Amino acid sequence: MNREIVCIPGDGIGPEVTDAMKRVVKVLDVEIRWINMLAGEAAMNAYGDPLPQATIDAILEHRLAIKGPTTTPIGGGWTSANVQLRQKCDLHAGIRPFRSLPIPGTVQGVNNVVARQNTEGLYLLKEVISGPPGKRRVTLIAQFTEEAMTRLARLAFAYALEEGIGRVTYVDKGNIHKVWGAMYHDAFRAVAAEPAFAGIRSDHMLVDAIAMRLVMAPGEYGVLVTENLMGDILSDECAGLVGGLGVAAGANIGDDIALFEAVHGSAPDIAGKGIANPTALLRSAGMMLGHMGLHEEQHRLEAAIRAIYLEGRYITGDLAWRYGVDPSNTRTFTDALIDRIRHPLP
Ligand code: NAI
Ligand code: MG
Repeated sequence: MNREIVCIPGDGIGPEVTDAMKRVVKVLDVEIRWINMLAGEAAMNAYGDPLPQATIDAILEHRLAIKGPTTTPIGGGWTSANVQLRQKCDLHAGIRPFRSLPIPGTVQGVNNVVARQNTEGLYLLKEVISGPPGKRRVTLIAQFTEEAMTRLARLAFAYALEEGIGRVTYVDKGNIHKVWGAMYHDAFRAVAAEPAFAGIRSDHMLVDAIAMRLVMAPGEYGVLVTENLMGDILSDECAGLVGGLGVAAGANIGDDIALFEAVHGSAPDIAGKGIANPTALLRSAGMMLGHMGLHEEQHRLEAAIRAIYLEGRYITGDLAWRYGVDPSNTRTFTDALIDRIRHPLP
């Protein structure tokens, strides 16, 4: 069967890591027909629109997509294609697993998952500015809904169950944000009490406290369920524990729709040089295979990635310094990985 999946190469290193991902998926013998669509700067240049309707329509039609990072200018310019995508396709949950790889100097035994609310909260503020220069004032309006936390918590507990993770922690700043914090927490507790999740331990942590605990004892925690901006920040922190953005994968999930993407951005500082680490997008593709029910293929891919990092010969520049080896470029890394998929270690 030729499954049709929307592929958005994105900007910067996006096309480079997307090419690597397509090559690897092909070697896993998964028959996919890629529906290539544009978003971000590439779409802005081609159509004057960072998120063309045709791209949204393709995702809504095929229900499955994978994308490279898209560039968003800081300050002025266009609104993030990512944020818009999550809104327009109702991709309400960001699921980002952070699992240690055998990389020297990184924290071992990490198996944390950030389940981030993707479509409301402190990330989607309406910013209203008033007053003359020197006396300017910005007023923020944010929205939090019980329904969003209920949907997110349900997904998070289901994910924990599927992955055999025994603890789900709700994270906020409830001592300060007493109203939305309590409302989200109520919604979380109601889901935690559902009979299906009886075997999973659930609790609450303040965001600043867990930020520290994650550095000191990440192994104590499992799935972290949290608000949009807090999830964004905790994601990068967890990525840092396991080797950085080059290895951190993610999925944006809605009801019956999923878009997979790495946690990292378009990395303009190394774009076009062919040296980006494709591992993050490859692990995102692994999540996609799992989502499609292709668990064996997902497992073969993750095993080959582990083998590459264990061997430590073909490592891209973001991590080569940890091994004290000369950096490999994206192609050499990908060739080695493909070889490992074809010839797994015994
Ligand atoms: P970034 O993640 O692009 O880069 C941060 C640092 O990590 C850079 O030094 C970069 O070279 C390095 N890095 C990231 N991914 C790498 C990889 N695969 N291999 C090797 N090194 C890697 O974050 P930054 O610089 O804050 O953002 C750049 C652009 O990306 C911005 O326009 C931002 O809006 C966008 N962005 C897009 C995202 C998405 O589409 N999902 C997510 C985050 C940022
Ligand atoms: Mg981020």
